[in-house]
Amino acid sequence: LAAGFDKNAMALDFLSQIGFGAVEVGTVTPKPQIGNDKKRILRLQQDKALINWMGFPSHGSEIVKKRLEKFRSHKNSNQSCVGVNIGKNKETPNSKAIDDYVLLYKGFLELSDYITINISSPNTPGLRELQNPVFLNELFMELKKLSGDNKLSKLCVKLSPDLKKKDLESQLNVFKEFEVGAVIGTNTTIDHSYDKGGLSGTPLFKKSLSFLEKVTEQLKESETMIIGCGGISSQSEIQKLQTLGINHFQIYTSFVYQGPAIINKLLS
Ligand code: FNR
Repeated sequence: LAAGFDKNAMALDFLSQIGFGAVEVGTVTPKPQIGNDKKRILRLQQDKALINWMGFPSHGSEIVKKRLEKFRSHKNSNQSCVGVNIGKNKETPNSKAIDDYVLLYKGFLELSDYITINISSPNTPGLRELQNPVFLNELFMELKKLSGDNKLSKLCVKLSPDLKKKDLESQLNVFKEFEVGAVIGTNTTIDHSYDKGGLSGTPLFKKSLSFLEKVTEQLKESETMIIGCGGISSQSEIQKLQTLGINHFQIYTSFVYQGPAIINKLLS
């Protein structure tokens, strides 16, 4: 399950038992914040799509940590793969963003199976500017120091499908250099005709696929795992991604439209 559905780890007991291989909690911010005013999600029923401009509503890391600790204390909970997706607070300027990510990484490292850096949401002003090699270099150096084995194998970075080819290439080079565990392609796109928000669901697939073609090409010699996300709603999209050598997938919008039955439909 992709990030944004269980932002505050409130439904983990349920979500971890309905067939997902992994559930990604978050985006979690360091301090609590309310996000944008409601209404902040549009359903485009006919297109099987959503547009959202949530803006990271989060209960904050302390509360989410307590919920994860409780979840982890249950018998059998270690059989569930749980990722935590982290993002900076809206009020944190980009010049201090690194502090937010370091704090969150430190806080969730032991409680999660992997941690996703979210620098690709379109709904926090300036966030996507952090998708640059200078910031990533600096951030990865700090995170490496915190990882017991000095490796970033538990780290995942989620990317925007709107990244230009040149910018994508320079970032993927940094991922290769630091041996980042995984990349998720993609977050929502701002390439739509509405006045705000990020588009997800069926119309996103084409864009995600072409983005992932570039990613797989550039990462083919590396150990970094690629997780396909964006507009997956049937076996047909899964097969197209498998052709690229992608074997891990996340969904959000098709889960909203089709409910839990989608999980078996995609797996069978
Ligand atoms: C999202 N997504 C998202 N991603 C993320 O990294 N952090 C988040 O907090 C959220 N929040 C969020 C809210 C809503 C309402 C939607 C629809 C989406 C993006 C999501 O995880 C996923 O990357 C995209 O939606 C593309 O996948 P689908 O929905 O087309 O399967």
